[in-house]
Amino acid sequence: MINVQINGVWRQFPKGTRLIEACEQAGGYVPRYCYHKKLSSPGNCRMCLIEMGMPKMGADRKPELGHDGKPLINWMPRPQISCATDVAEGMGVRTNSPMVDECRRGVMEFLLINHPLDCPICDQAGECRLQEFSVEYGRQDSRFLENKVKKPKNVELGPRVTLDDERCILCSRCIRFSKEIAKDDVLGFIDRGSHTVLTAHPGKRLENNYSLNTVDICPVGALTSSDFRFKMRVWFLKETKSFCTSCATGCNTVIGTREDVIYRQTPRENDAVNSCWMCDYGRLNFGYLQSDRRLLDPLVRQDGKLQPTSWKHALESVAAQLRSFRGSQIAILASGRMTNEEMWLASRIANSLSVNLIDIVPRLGPGDDILLSEDRNPNTNGARLMRIASDSGAVLQQIRGGIGSGQVQALISLGENPLHCGINADQLARLPVYIVMGLLANDAIPFASTLLPSLGFAEKRGSMINGKGRLQRLNPAVRGPGQARDDWEILRDLLQTFSGSNGIYTIEDVFRQMSEGVPAFAGLTLSRISDLGAQLLHIDETPGPPGEPAQQKVRERERETHPQ
Ligand code: SF4
Ligand code: SF4
Ligand code: FES
Repeated sequence: MINVQINGVWRQFPKGTRLIEACEQAGGYVPRYCYHKKLSSPGNCRMCLIEMGMPKMGADRKPELGHDGKPLINWMPRPQISCATDVAEGMGVRTNSPMVDECRRGVMEFLLINHPLDCPICDQAGECRLQEFSVEYGRQDSRFLENKVKKPKNVELGPRVTLDDERCILCSRCIRFSKEIAKDDVLGFIDRGSHTVLTAHPGKRLENNYSLNTVDICPVGALTSSDFRFKMRVWFLKETKSFCTSCATGCNTVIGTREDVIYRQTPRENDAVNSCWMCDYGRLNFGYLQSDRRLLDPLVRQDGKLQPTSWKHALESVAAQLRSFRGSQIAILASGRMTNEEMWLASRIANSLSVNLIDIVPRLGPGDDILLSEDRNPNTNGARLMRIASDSGAVLQQIRGGIGSGQVQALISLGENPLHCGINADQLARLPVYIVMGLLANDAIPFASTLLPSLGFAEKRGSMINGKGRLQRLNPAVRGPGQARDDWEILRDLLQTFSGSNGIYTIEDVFRQMSEGVPAFAGLTLSRISDLGAQLLHIDETPGPPGEPAQQKVRERERETHPQ
């Protein structure tokens, strides 16, 4: 441990701690623009200036000690940046001296010289570091008499990111993120002095699958999301902690909503899952929840047509349709997008109907070595734990075969489209019973005998286990549309029609019963899962937290470049 005096108080920090982090831990937050703890530190914005000193050495080359037995500090006459310096033994730091205050005011004045007065129309307003630090260190008036430098506005850097060069404070966070985390060296500065602008290298575009993280880390409103810009002022957004369900990584997120409309998803820091990042594919994959393809009302087939009905009648009709079949004539097509609670109830329904043909539909896509997993189902591990999915997909094959041979007479689809997993329209049309629980209309819906509209990931509560065995909780950010009901409630009611009262009144009851039946959940409750999740399974091949190996390399490189 290293002894450091911060604002007059001696503290200890582990060797290698950044000075800016040490000051923050000691309660002396240092404003910063270019520093980001997951990126290298070029030290180019100068906002983090502090007053620094080293132990005063005596004639015997040993530190001179004061009355308190601690080293006396020899303060340097010039300020130092705290973001590119590590703590050192006997170091003294002042984050609140008049000199530091004056430095911050000076840096702010320089940064604002050419900055446009865009706040009223800037998407970053409300979460802009320039605004925030202006309150503390900005001048009321401008001493700048010349004309501001005009720079390009509304530049499409890529398909999802728009740049306003006039707002850029040249912190280089976006350049470093692209190079160090996204491994796509696409951005850079050109020209000199106050004419320097950020741009994409010739012939390149910022179009990698992580491009929107540059918008998150841009401390000002220079980089904006083309999808979100001008849609909503950020202070109107309600923020709900959740996670992305578009692949098995389960990146932690904050969902920004207003009046039951989702406006954006942004990553939430969790070093065990996604570091500070998420991919563009997952981030933007929420529009379907607001599409006009949503199923709004329960429907049952009457006189050859699907007709709206009440929930009670729809559930009774499911029970009536299935009653005439043996377990071996029924198949359940479950989904790796279901929560653990829904899977638990589905497996209990399968047990009560003596159904053996139950499986999830594998969903694969190209992955990368940053975050995106090849497994696009968010809860494959939950399905394995609940014993509703075989590893080989053998049961899915049996379901297809059973439907083809006519052995399976009733199919229950829970959030999956059978036409996308090897069952054709003729086979579906021949099935006497096809029950659908889902959220979106698709080409298999016209064959349904009963349709039960359910909710999407941002509309419900429940848990999932990501590809690394981490248990995480979804929280509802918006209400579902129409008469759509929470999936666990639909499954609970169905279970009740098959096997009588089941003592389940809330989703907490489902989790409690699940934790009594599945040893891995023992001792847990849904509410007790923290916002950062809980490690449930220990999967051998689990690599380190995404982004962290890159950061390790970054730190190593920094140490080589700036030896302490
Ligand atoms: S666009 Fe934003 S993140 Fe990039 S250099 Fe400019 S201010 Fe920094
Ligand atoms: S990596 Fe996976 S979990 Fe993370 S944002 Fe992308 S799709 Fe979602
Ligand atoms: S935060 Fe230290 S120089 Fe920018």
